[in-house]
Amino acid sequence: MKKFTEIKELKEWIRELKLTGMSIGFVPTMGYLHEGHLSLVEQAKNENDLVILSIFVNPLQFGEGEDFDRYPKDKERDLSLASKVGVDAVFMPTVKEMYPKKMSATLVVHEGTDVLCGAKRPGHFDGVATVVMKLFGIVAPDRAYFGLKDAQQVAVIERLVNDYHLDIEIVRGATVREADGLAKSSRNVNLTSKERVEAPIIFRSLLKIKDRILNGTYKKVSDVEEGLKEELSQHITGYIDYAEVRSFPSLKELNFLQGELIIAVAVKYSKVRLIDNLIVNV
Ligand code: PAJ
Repeated sequence: MKKFTEIKELKEWIRELKLTGMSIGFVPTMGYLHEGHLSLVEQAKNENDLVILSIFVNPLQFGEGEDFDRYPKDKERDLSLASKVGVDAVFMPTVKEMYPKKMSATLVVHEGTDVLCGAKRPGHFDGVATVVMKLFGIVAPDRAYFGLKDAQQVAVIERLVNDYHLDIEIVRGATVREADGLAKSSRNVNLTSKERVEAPIIFRSLLKIKDRILNGTYKKVSDVEEGLKEELSQHITGYIDYAEVRSFPSLKELNFLQGELIIAVAVKYSKVRLIDNLIVNV
């Protein structure tokens, strides 16, 4: 497995490969890899000649008071996992390499960011879009893989690629979960043991609400959101940052419980904010 820290070297390697007609699958991550990331790599391996994985904790997408400083890191473990699962090249730049000087222009995401994490983390998706655009400029992949665990991110990136006419296919990956249903996340290590015991209730609540939507318990969108909040607040000590239902992937307000919709939740614990969602076809 190749390792790159410098943009110039990675670009040279990729230029040579492209001459041979090889297709490139790209999995951008912030590291501290888990099966969620690795399932995207597996998918990328099946659909491309080569897989490039990036590991970069992007300061631009963290707000003040968020967990940039305690974002978990383990370079050696990441490299060993990436190599085991068959990644061809890992790109792990420093912040200085990615942002050598102040950016003269950055992206601002206007659509689909007034709700869910976008509303609660101002500027977050601007930072995500900017770094993903930079990474796309460096790697120029044929396909890029994003997990539905971060469904709003998927929606934002799909629109970005469309807006900027990029020849990159965005592939969605299903959410990978722990045996008890908790969505895998690098941040789960920052849960206390008590919080870790209670956290799977988030997914169980989403499943309950999905069943109730499908069996016609709810007549209105507001009933679903109230039901979800009630379900969560009865069983969870964390702070419910949001519990919302929207259309997917447009993330628009729903008038009727119909079509493809997303039930999305964010819960704040002492040192970590967890998100999860279910996409339901009604
Ligand atoms: P990170 O949180 O490391 O996630 C990298 C990719 O793995 C994202 O596409 C995310 O949706 C996916 N992922 C995370 N947990 C998952 C799970 N349990 N199941 C399936 N996929 C999962 O998302 C980011 O990094 C950053 O915002 C990034 C896109 C790299 C830009 O900085």
